[in-house]
Amino acid sequence: MSLADARELLPRAAAEGYAVPALNFHSLDMVPALVEVAEAERSPLILQASPGTIAFLGLDAIEAIVGAAARRCRVPVVLHLDHARDYKLVMGALRHGFTSVMADGSSLPFEDNVSLTAKVVEAAHAAGVAVEGELGYVPRAGDPAVGGGAGAPEGYEFTLPEQAEEFVARTGVDSLAVAVGTVHGLYRQAPRLDLERLAAIRARVPIPLVLHGGSGVPAEMLRAAIARGVAKVNFATELKHAWTGALRTALAGDRETDPRRLLAPALKALQEEAARKIRLCGSRGRA
Ligand code: 13P
Repeated sequence: MSLADARELLPRAAAEGYAVPALNFHSLDMVPALVEVAEAERSPLILQASPGTIAFLGLDAIEAIVGAAARRCRVPVVLHLDHARDYKLVMGALRHGFTSVMADGSSLPFEDNVSLTAKVVEAAHAAGVAVEGELGYVPRAGDPAVGGGAGAPEGYEFTLPEQAEEFVARTGVDSLAVAVGTVHGLYRQAPRLDLERLAAIRARVPIPLVLHGGSGVPAEMLRAAIARGVAKVNFATELKHAWTGALRTALAGDRETDPRRLLAPALKALQEEAARKIRLCGSRGRA
């Protein structure tokens, strides 16, 4: 299959009550492993690369390996640019076959966020590519304002429903990432999502919603968020930890020097974690 269009996958997921798992990859070996597990689970998949991963791997290598893996498989795979704050990076992704991009102006004042996002929408839509915007700020677990990972306190730059409505109307984004209590990274205690706020956003915003910081969110809370219009859930930290944890054990265990053999348990652990995420999202059997 050629790479899939997020503008088809996300509305369908929202309408049918599941979310498409958006899995960050950090190295090239992870790409075919993640596609393989999506195929085994018959789940649509969003593979996403952060600016850091793009700096590490390069857009050409990402385009080649994701394109090859997607062509070989029978489930829809979207290649998404995660957290682009830089317009030039978006243009690079558009030239390298990405089928979805995120314009992340969430740390900017509202008007600047609108300008950056609208500019990205204009370029991306001209290329037939979907755009995710973000309003409200999803912090990192270690940010001082979230108490070293205890979860974002109520009122910490959470998305305002009426502002979300205005943002979507003025930018023309295809999906909207919202801040309702998740953080990027691991929680010290289980987060409490502001489900009422999510429902209020849903009531005003007709497009699919996106939840960042999926690692560590309890299953019942994730399901409640999906029931309130979340159609894409981002997972990075727990996948990375599964891969590195298994690799660390493999390295400590014996004198193996063949990277392919050392990586085998890391990729198996990654696939097991990815399969759990797919099931949590309810996307198993949807492709
Ligand atoms: P986690 O690392 O908390 O899973 O968040 C991932 C994410 O939101 C990537 O954009």
